Amino acid sequence: MASIASVILLAFFCLFNFITLPLFTNAISSCNGPCQTLNDCKGNLICINGKCNDDPDIGSHICSGGSTPPPNNGGSCQPSGSLKCKGESYPQYTCSPPFVPSGTRATLTLNNFSKGGDGGGPSKCDEKYHPLPEKVVALSTGWFNNSSRCGKKIRITSTKTGRQSVAKVVDECDSVNGCDDEHAGQPPCRNNIVDASQSVWDELGLDSNVGHASVTWSMA
Ligand SMILES: *[C@@H]1O[C@H](CO)[C@@H](O)[C@H](O)[C@H]1NC(C)=O
Ligand SMILES: *[C@@H]1O[C@H](CO)[C@@H](O)[C@H](O)[C@H]1NC(C)=O
Ligand SMILES: *[C@@H]1O[C@H](CO)[C@@H](O)[C@H](O)[C@H]1NC(C)=O
Repeated sequence: MASIASVILLAFFCLFNFITLPLFTNAISSCNGPCQTLNDCKGNLICINGKCNDDPDIGSHICSGGSTPPPNNGGSCQPSGSLKCKGESYPQYTCSPPFVPSGTRATLTLNNFSKGGDGGGPSKCDEKYHPLPEKVVALSTGWFNNSSRCGKKIRITSTKTGRQSVAKVVDECDSVNGCDDEHAGQPPCRNNIVDASQSVWDELGLDSNVGHASVTWSMA
């Protein structure tokens, strides 16, 4: 009797381990897993020194356990839903962290606004391409704010070099749509992105090969 009970118990235990362990280790490895770009990391994680980690600009605590509440900066902006790209789930955002007139924290990414570049079609604001050396940016959906910043200039400051660059808003970094052919299978943009041309990176004295950098931006 006792042996049957322990066999059943053992079977349950094995089954339990089989089901939960792989999922559990996947979740862990997505946090410290290797990466080269933002896209190699799950959800809103970013790639720091070749490993996926929480984005200090968003203030998430996915990797550090999730027990600490996120700071206020992103607190008022919650996902509106999620999309699946290749089995991974990505949050969708119609909002961005609150705009702070004196300087809003953001993550700088690189975009090629030329025809045939990785930005895809022409820019949303003017239906044009913007080859180098034009200094232009796309803003996450919330900050793009229904095109209200189209054609306006923003001042971007690198938190690392302290250098500044003034660039024109020409496009939206779509934080709602993605994971389809129209977006080349790319997940939706994160909600705190200033996606800038190479000339902006150069003026800030930043190496665009790194892929992302911490900046603040304000209206110029
Ligand atoms: C941008 O894309 C165009 C077209 O593919 C290419 O000729 C150009 O070299 C790219 N620019 C940069 C900075 O990568
Ligand atoms: C953009 O406009 C739509 C409809 O006019 C509105 O529902 C939405 O809240 C606006 N988004 C922002 C970021 O202002
Ligand atoms: C969006 O634009 C409207 C005016 O068009 C402005 O009142 C509002 O503060 C802006 N919102 C954000 C989040 O920038």
